[in-house]
Amino acid sequence: MVLEIGERAAFMYLCICNAITDRDVERVVTQGCSSVGEVFRCLGERPNCGRCVPDICRLVQQAQDLGAQDLDTAAPLLAVAAE
Ligand code: FES
Repeated sequence: MVLEIGERAAFMYLCICNAITDRDVERVVTQGCSSVGEVFRCLGERPNCGRCVPDICRLVQQAQDLGAQDLDTAAPLLAVAAE
């Protein structure tokens, strides 16, 4: 699948250990989670290897900065930042 710039995939796994997707993170941020720890708690998971922590932290920050109405732009920003 090839995405155009600004187009969004259905979801992207951020945490492979716990199968947490960007959509999961966005959902719990809109429900009030404001840190990586809260994201894990809200999803009933615990960090394992920790590789996802920087990406989840970045997405939480972006989602908070953009506001819930602009979350569609957060994941493409995360993908660019990870390159
Ligand atoms: S990738 Fe998230 S804890 Fe390992």
